[in-house]
Amino acid sequence: MKTLHINGSPMGPESFGTKLANYYLTKNESEVQEVNLFSLGLCELSEQFYKSGFKNPTEVDQVQFGLRAKLLEDVLNSDQIVINMPMWNYSCPSTVRIFLDALAVPGKTFSYTSTGIKGMIEGKKVIIITTAGGENNDQNSLSEMLKSAMALTGLNQDLKIIAVGGSARTGYDYLAEAKKEIDKI
Ligand SMILES: Cc1cc2nc3c(=O)[nH]c(=O)nc-3n(C[C@H](O)[C@H](O)[C@H](O)COP(=O)(O)O)c2cc1C
Repeated sequence: MKTLHINGSPMGPESFGTKLANYYLTKNESEVQEVNLFSLGLCELSEQFYKSGFKNPTEVDQVQFGLRAKLLEDVLNSDQIVINMPMWNYSCPSTVRIFLDALAVPGKTFSYTSTGIKGMIEGKKVIIITTAGGENNDQNSLSEMLKSAMALTGLNQDLKIIAVGGSARTGYDYLAEAKKEIDKI
């Protein structure tokens, strides 16, 4: 089985999310490719590109297209995708949002049908771990956004979102408690 680990934290090995994703990956052996979104240099596409009706990209846009295409290719070539990200201001870091947008390609990963939008990616197992300093129920809006983003492309067929809050709580063994949630997967 091929697993793509999308790391959406800038904190490297010190990140709680990285530690939890690695805990899951160690328990469930597979061939793992890790991509850290913060090391790629992802950024928004230009005003010029959008205003031209997607016809006139800048040189920076061309580089961004390449990064986005590679991310999508990595997803399509994997059986399982494990994603970790911190909650930032009730949402995800913008680099993670750009990754989610990179997955949404009309005609390739989703289509418009008479009954609405249909995701075209099939057969992937997706595990998303969201970490937060505050409590779990603060993460509802982030979880709902992630469910919608995954549903758009069909990546919701076998989707688990593990939202583990409390990393900023004093006198609380966050990692030990969070690992109990990972054990339930
Ligand atoms: C810019 C920024 C915004 C944050 N916003 C929130 C927030 O809205 N709610 C929350 O509970 N924690 C928030 N946190 C705390 C992180 O979610 C928390 O430290 C998390 O465990 C980090 O995960 P990581 O170590 O995998 O990067 C924020 C942290 C940063 C740096």
